[in-house]
Amino acid sequence: MTVAHPLPGRPTARLLDAAGALFLAGVRGRAPLDAVVATFLRGRHELRGAERGFVVDVAQGMWRVRRRLELAARGLSAEPTRGALACLYLVGARRLPPSELPIDPAGGRGLAEAWRATDGAPDDVRLGVPSWLLQRFVDERGGEAARALCATFAEAPPTTLRANRLRTDPDALVRALAEEGVVARRAALAPDGVVLEFRAELFSTRAFTAGLFEVQDEGSQLVSLLCGAAPGMTVVDGCAGAGGKTLHLAAQMGGKGTLYALEPHERRRHDLSRRAARAGVHNLRVGDVDKKARLAGRADVVLVDAPCSGTGVLRRNPDTAWSLTVDDVARLATQQRAILEGYAPLVRPGGRLVYATCSLLTEENERVVEGFLARYPAFVAVDAGAVLAAHGVSLPGEFLSVDSARHGTDGFFGAVLLAR
Ligand SMILES: C[S@@+](CC[C@H](N)C(=O)[O-])C[C@H]1O[C@@H](n2cnc3c(N)ncnc32)[C@H](O)[C@@H]1O
Repeated sequence: MTVAHPLPGRPTARLLDAAGALFLAGVRGRAPLDAVVATFLRGRHELRGAERGFVVDVAQGMWRVRRRLELAARGLSAEPTRGALACLYLVGARRLPPSELPIDPAGGRGLAEAWRATDGAPDDVRLGVPSWLLQRFVDERGGEAARALCATFAEAPPTTLRANRLRTDPDALVRALAEEGVVARRAALAPDGVVLEFRAELFSTRAFTAGLFEVQDEGSQLVSLLCGAAPGMTVVDGCAGAGGKTLHLAAQMGGKGTLYALEPHERRRHDLSRRAARAGVHNLRVGDVDKKARLAGRADVVLVDAPCSGTGVLRRNPDTAWSLTVDDVARLATQQRAILEGYAPLVRPGGRLVYATCSLLTEENERVVEGFLARYPAFVAVDAGAVLAAHGVSLPGEFLSVDSARHGTDGFFGAVLLAR
């Protein structure tokens, strides 16, 4: 776990007000929370260094437990101010004892008491997950595992980096970060992973400017490992986004061979090209997805990291759970099947097609792969656990399946399909 960077002293009323204001901006706005944070910080020049980190960290925590926080706030004897809302969260989530708060917003009724009164709230409010989604998790994993999973959505996720092997290695990265005051350690699962002990302003470090790392969760790094990309290969990242996995594949290829990154969104292609330049990737061709036709039968590896419900990354994007519907999941599964089938012809005989999502739902994962294999007998699933074992990662199983409760990683699914 990455611990929030401590403030030099107790939080002031000004900082708590700012955290409450940011929380409300996210609740009331329509923009994604990342964009809300960026806009908010642009207008708050008076907040400096650790203060900015604290305000964002508290607001993100509040978003993660939003339903429960709103219910607890209704139990206070007076309408809470913005700062009082932040205090209620900090006490309820046991991040600060009431004695550490600079204001006493409870108006005679204790914050801890108001929070405790929500202990008996319905599961969806307490766990912060809509009822239909909680029921899916219960059906697929059992009640205890489902509740343990949802409990992790309320926790701050670790900040995980991937050491860029084109420039460094994980141990050298840990040392380089330490020289800049950033405390980190090797990750437990991903061989190139490095986890921050405390939150830090990463993007102003020399290590970042020099392209020594990318921010990438361990689960995502494990997906890239399934691809078995190697120097000299022709590799296609079919849903490249802004390149999280593309850049990892490039590092595995050591600059030799050709890596195609295909992505329909122009803005993401632009971000990917910028990141690739910083990371020292020179064997990359970035293009729209219509470029895939000319690659038929040529690829040693094709990665399809398909658009999905994002249920594996709810602790990072707590706003997505409540806008997701049962119909969305069905629609996504149809799209995932179509994208996977669209990329299958690119794989040469003996090559590898890797299907991945950051979904925790079987409808988007196992069911998509089963349907594909039934229609494409030229492909056969190979054991993902064995592929990972070759990289020194012990996660036995036909498919890669990790999540925040069992592995401490974001939730990812991955299947390795071999073209015969
Ligand atoms: C899960 S994200 C990819 C994340 C990326 N691989 C990474 O590791 O950062 C899925 C991406 O697929 C793209 N996409 C959407 N429709 C697509 C299609 N029909 N074919 C290929 N990619 C598509 C989306 O724009 C999105 O960027």
